[in-house]
Amino acid sequence: MQQFETLLTEITSNIITVTINRPDKLNALNKACMQELDALFTTIEEDESIRCVIITGAGPKAFVAGADIAELHELTPEEAKSVSEFGQSVFNKIELLAKPVIAAINGFALGGGAELAWSCHIRIAAENARFGQPEINLGLIPGYAGTQRLARMLPRTKAYELLLTGDAFDAATALHYGLVSKVTKAEELLPAAGELAEKLAQKPAKVVSLLLKALQSAAETFQLDGQSLEASLFSSCFCTEDFKEGTSAFLEKRKPIFKHR
Ligand code: COA
Repeated sequence: MQQFETLLTEITSNIITVTINRPDKLNALNKACMQELDALFTTIEEDESIRCVIITGAGPKAFVAGADIAELHELTPEEAKSVSEFGQSVFNKIELLAKPVIAAINGFALGGGAELAWSCHIRIAAENARFGQPEINLGLIPGYAGTQRLARMLPRTKAYELLLTGDAFDAATALHYGLVSKVTKAEELLPAAGELAEKLAQKPAKVVSLLLKALQSAAETFQLDGQSLEASLFSSCFCTEDFKEGTSAFLEKRKPIFKHR
């Protein structure tokens, strides 16, 4: 695995933990960090030994406190458009990854940090996590697809309220909104993410990738088109060795041994 300036990576038994590592800036996403995330997720996509990803932030205070405001401050409108388009492409790469991505949110997830979390497949949060899209208070709107993802995940009235006020909210509220699936004590966050990742890494990897493709299309497609894609992906499962193994194991009353083929 390559070395990065702003990211830490650790691989244990088919799971990669990616830590955004700028704790002195509350892990704010600068240009280097976005470029490194882009490169790393290409590697993760290509590396068949990796079956699940955990993303978290370094230090006890922040997951990611936003895009780097010092860098934003200097941009021309033209540069801002490219920054937004590149950021969207990086987060799309995360959302469209053919392996599950878990956000382990260990503190502030604001602005670009919230948008990073929204692009992950499953989010779990520590009790001290604080979420928000405060861009409006900086004279901005979200630029890494936060307006699009949040408006699709929340009831419209709540999305409008949160984006227009820029107000932050805590982990319990995020759980109530359905934006995270679990809240843990701070010290239990990474163990909980690890346990979930281990569970997902044991599922048949090819079939997981087909399932993710079906789920990823759900937000983007008319239902009948989505159903047609689902039928094709369902049929593709029947080409995998793991489908034969999973169904044989059930019929033979034993546990399946998946080979991820
Ligand atoms: N971009 C650049 N630097 C940031 C940052 C960001 N999004 N968020 C925090 N930092 C930096 C601070 O400037 C500070 O750097 P310094 O020590 O060199 O002055 C350092 O991280 C620590 O932050 P600080 O503000 O001192 O911590 P705090 O505990 O008092 O406040 C926050 C924490 C999250 C409330 C506050 O940092 C904040 O409001 N950050 C910006 C959040 C935001 O608007 N994000 C959306 C950006 S689009």
